[in-house]
Amino acid sequence: MSTTFHLVRGSADDLAFIMATERLDGYDRLVGRWEEPRHRAAFVDGSHAYFIGYDGPAPIGFVLLRFWNALERTTLVRRVAVVSPGQGQGRRLLAAVVARAFQETDVHRLVIGLFPDNLRARRMYEAIGFQAEGISRGSAYFGGEYRDELVMSLLRPDWTRSQPPE
Ligand SMILES: CC(C)(COP(=O)(O)OP(=O)(O)OC[C@H]1O[C@@H](n2cnc3c(N)ncnc32)[C@H](O)[C@@H]1OP(=O)(O)O)[C@@H](O)C(=O)NCCC(=O)NCCS
Repeated sequence: MSTTFHLVRGSADDLAFIMATERLDGYDRLVGRWEEPRHRAAFVDGSHAYFIGYDGPAPIGFVLLRFWNALERTTLVRRVAVVSPGQGQGRRLLAAVVARAFQETDVHRLVIGLFPDNLRARRMYEAIGFQAEGISRGSAYFGGEYRDELVMSLLRPDWTRSQPPE
């Protein structure tokens, strides 16, 4: 794997990449997608944070968080997608975003809802330390139907314990 990975906060300049990534073949059943005005509104209202992972100069994927730095200290990992799945890039990207969230905000709980049959995503979340909590019934209105989600979370004390000593 490349050692030139780095992470940056996304801006509206990254929308073409973000929108192309969430529209990749086969992703329509796995991850949400927004039209440009919805993304732009998320940048403006400040409730969301976008992160873009780079391998050298090339963007490899993005993560969208909701309730970034919220008073309630719970942040939702709303969307994660990479350009080339199955090569460890998602794990590297999300692990870096998780670290940024715990280091830069007072968040206590990171939570995600994923479709239970998305085993690749589940495996990646588990590898980062997320634990399955249970099924949230009909919680995702997605493609015109209500779908169940598997809720997974990562708490600050567990993440802190998993970090190598400085
Ligand atoms: C989910 C996603 C971000 C994960 O990123 P990734 O780069 O593919 O994931 P990684 O390669 O880092 O890790 C995937 C893990 O799942 C495993 N895996 C791959 N395919 C699998 C499958 N069909 N079933 C079970 N595990 C699988 C891999 O072996 C790897 O585990 P390991 O590290 O123990 O070997 C990426 O696949 C993606 O963009 N998918 C489409 C959008 C999506 O599903 N987003 C998540 C919505 S909740």
